Amino acid sequence: MILEILKYLIEKEYVSGEVLAQRLGVSRVAVWKQIQKLKDLGYKIISEQNLGYCLISRPDLLLPQEIQRGLNTSYIGKKIFYFPELESTNVIAKEKALLYRTEEIDEGAIVIAEKQNAGKGRLGRKWFSPAGGIWFSIILYPQLLPSYIPRITLITAVAAVKAVKICTRIEPKIKWPNDILINEKKVCGISTEMSAELDTINWIVVGIGINVNIDHKKFPEDIQENTISLKEVTGREISRVKLAQAFLREFEKYYESLKRRESSSALSEWKSCSYTLGKKIRVDMGERIIAGEAVDINEKGALILKNENGELVEIISGTILK
Ligand code: BTN
Repeated sequence: MILEILKYLIEKEYVSGEVLAQRLGVSRVAVWKQIQKLKDLGYKIISEQNLGYCLISRPDLLLPQEIQRGLNTSYIGKKIFYFPELESTNVIAKEKALLYRTEEIDEGAIVIAEKQNAGKGRLGRKWFSPAGGIWFSIILYPQLLPSYIPRITLITAVAAVKAVKICTRIEPKIKWPNDILINEKKVCGISTEMSAELDTINWIVVGIGINVNIDHKKFPEDIQENTISLKEVTGREISRVKLAQAFLREFEKYYESLKRRESSSALSEWKSCSYTLGKKIRVDMGERIIAGEAVDINEKGALILKNENGELVEIISGTILK
């Protein structure tokens, strides 16, 4: 109901309590109560006896109504499950994604939270997710072969870079496969979880965490050195709503191309902001560690490493060691 009222409040214009009550089919007292709740959330609303309610300003909350206002995507972010606080958006998104057989959850639905209490990073690590960041997961049902999964990670990283650039004018770098860095410090992380069979993807949940308006001293000590937030880099608060919208738009664009089996534009964007290419690195591939120079990334999203013998090795998944 709070969100319903938001639909009818107009910025810098009065709307009478009576009109709001009529539109929502509730009493004027019920409207008043909901207005109080909006005020508690940080919406600045003034009221005049004969004129009604006037919305003066909005807080930077990731409410569905706020994100969807002016979001011109076709399906990414069209359905938003919002939580002021939860354990992990990935956990909830996976529960929802499992309903794929019942077709209850649309492709592109997102789960978003102001704060996560048990955010999950890659490789079983914890992901620090206080208020001020953007923590969300996208549910996808692509009709693609499972071999396309690294490409989904690739386009997500490119969409994150583009969105950050649109909102801050700063161009982050991508450390293969999916760390987004500014000044060599992590500003955004991406995790991709899925259920797939031999030749079908049942569902994918892409989790994205962006350190937006977080003060450096708030990061736990063990990650302080390697982590950064957009507020720190720019010296100002960034609109999380605008950043989330920019990401969803960019993501849909690249995801659509991927579904048409075209990934070359995302790939060239990826290469142009790569942190990894040209560097001598060591990659932990689980069963072994391989060293060499990162020379390319191919259409599949795989890293091409030139090893000590000058041979080219294709790495589909792994972690770059420090
Ligand atoms: C990484 O380790 O780099 C991946 C981090 C992914 C974090 C995001 S935040 C939203 C979503 N929910 C989670 O619990 N994790 C992902």
